[in-house]
Amino acid sequence: MLMGQQTEQQAFDIARDCTKAHAIATAHQIVILTGAGLSAESGLSTFRHPEGIWSRYDYKDVATPEGFAKDPDLVHEFYNHRRAALKTVKPNAAHHALAHLEAAYPGHVLIVTQNVDHLHEAAGSKNVIHMHGQLLKALCTHCHKSHDWKEDMSTRSKCPSCGKKAAIRPDVVWFGEQPYAIDKIGQALLNCTLFFSIGTSGNVYPAANFVQVARNAGARTIELNVEATQQASLFDEKMIGPATTVVPLFIEGLIRSDGQRTKVHT
Ligand code: OAD
Repeated sequence: MLMGQQTEQQAFDIARDCTKAHAIATAHQIVILTGAGLSAESGLSTFRHPEGIWSRYDYKDVATPEGFAKDPDLVHEFYNHRRAALKTVKPNAAHHALAHLEAAYPGHVLIVTQNVDHLHEAAGSKNVIHMHGQLLKALCTHCHKSHDWKEDMSTRSKCPSCGKKAAIRPDVVWFGEQPYAIDKIGQALLNCTLFFSIGTSGNVYPAANFVQVARNAGARTIELNVEATQQASLFDEKMIGPATTVVPLFIEGLIRSDGQRTKVHT
């Protein structure tokens, strides 16, 4: 175990403190924000690492409506590569632990992901909001329908619903566009008692603001990341280490300690 990472006992202690922090009779309402760091150990690149996606591409060229209008072929190529990469990746231990939490926990668990991959669902999570859209979906800019889409996309692709050509784009949210389900996310943040942020650098809004909203609503906040982020001071607890190590440890501790607490109160 590397310096600065949590041992099993420390993870359990942090999880127990989180569950003790609210003297509530019912189980927690948990909102979990996830970012690219969660899928890094599955083999998908993060964005802001020195060798990450934004070191190879200018986001203005490939992740804005203006970039798509200027050079749709480049944008399709960028997302085609990323969509093809999904064929070879699998959910990791952190995705599986989150799915286990949703299935085993007596409270409500909502995952809000900035990730456009399908790894939460592949691990078995059901209650997932893809606030930045999904690589495996296409959006028709003519009829506005979204469709499952596994193969390459191009300016010649035809909308399966309206038949229009040259109107298909990746169903992902670009800079300058409104993320999906923002009202539903806002409501969940106002109601949550625990908020975790996993593998996100906290650079992109509105997601970067969620911790503050959850804090203001009285939630206990925990950051799980391989390093402390620029937002670290906003979190009550930090667990430093690779997601595949710290997330399963923390979740196991949470389920165990909340089970103990529930027994005490009933
Ligand atoms: P970033 O690349 O900005 O941040 C990834 C975070 O994950 C960093 O804080 C890393 O330290 C951390 N990390 C890396 N490997 C990890 C591991 N194995 N375990 C735990 N943490 C790890 O990615 P995001 O914060 O997800 O948006 O980026 C947010 C948005 O910016 C993306 O959704 C995308 C991007 O531009 C759009 O394209 C609209």
